[in-house]
Amino acid sequence: MGILNECKGFGRGGGKIILLGEHSVVYGRPALAVGLPDGVTAKVAPSARKVGQIRCRDWRMEIPLNSGDRSAEAVRRILRRMGEAGLAWEVDLEVQIPHSAGLGSSAALCVAVARAFGELRGRRLTDGEAAEVAYEGERSFHGTPSGIDNTVAAYGGLVWFRKGEACRRLELPVALHLAVGVTGLGSDTSEQVGLVRRAWERDRARFEGLFDELGELVRLGRAALAAGDIEALGKLMDRGHELLGRLGVSGPALDEIVSAARASGALGAKLTGAGGGGCAVALCGSEEGARRVEEALKKAGFVAFRRRIRPGGADGEEGL
Ligand code: PMV
Repeated sequence: MGILNECKGFGRGGGKIILLGEHSVVYGRPALAVGLPDGVTAKVAPSARKVGQIRCRDWRMEIPLNSGDRSAEAVRRILRRMGEAGLAWEVDLEVQIPHSAGLGSSAALCVAVARAFGELRGRRLTDGEAAEVAYEGERSFHGTPSGIDNTVAAYGGLVWFRKGEACRRLELPVALHLAVGVTGLGSDTSEQVGLVRRAWERDRARFEGLFDELGELVRLGRAALAAGDIEALGKLMDRGHELLGRLGVSGPALDEIVSAARASGALGAKLTGAGGGGCAVALCGSEEGARRVEEALKKAGFVAFRRRIRPGGADGEEGL
């Protein structure tokens, strides 16, 4: 094995589902999200070329690191943030989540690359460090994101997030059974965030009121989760979807997934992430319930999948 082959680093970042609080989190309200078991794995190795590539078979991507593509820019920002000026690196990605779907794929990519490069340099990043470095990369995708995606991508588990505050991992007392419907329409975070911002600028009083209500749902959701009251959380998610609709970030396909999920027995359902396209998530009472909702969504013509979010640990007990 040559010296170049021996010198490589691996890292992983997880996808996420925002249970409550997207968009209002940009305006300082809290949000609740869970890490997905699916994510992005990165391998970084020195390149024999002056400028290496990012390759990802799952996304049919093969681009030089100096390209204008957002992923290349993100990797450049991460490398710079970690004190590396050169581009002689090969970055290979394996991805288990669709991109532009509101499931945090870009943040997972950034966390994976940051951890892989850290490992290559013989330094295992803490979750907090990985989140911080990844935020730099996330800016290529989303301008000035709130930081929720890179935080959940690094920490995993159930996360309470508020801009400018330390992230808090919460105890999840019961498993969550989620079914996810994919619209197949791209969800462009900066576009959706910009749309809400322009609407907020036109009518601040109304939008601040909506953000307050969304923030209140998050607080109630946290209490419901702490009590293991999944039915209450489902109702809060239903209300969350209604409010996100009023912000202007839902759409016919998202509404259709939400209605089909409720009609097939979900405890609650809402769009997740920036909206406009992407995915909607349904909270179900059991594994069997999630299977029924998944089937119903597929029958309605959507790609769908289900995930069990395992119960567990507050801070430090259960990393990725
Ligand atoms: O990038 P997405 O689709 O996971 O959305 C992120 C959540 C937003 O609140 C819409 C944006 C942000 O920066 O928090």
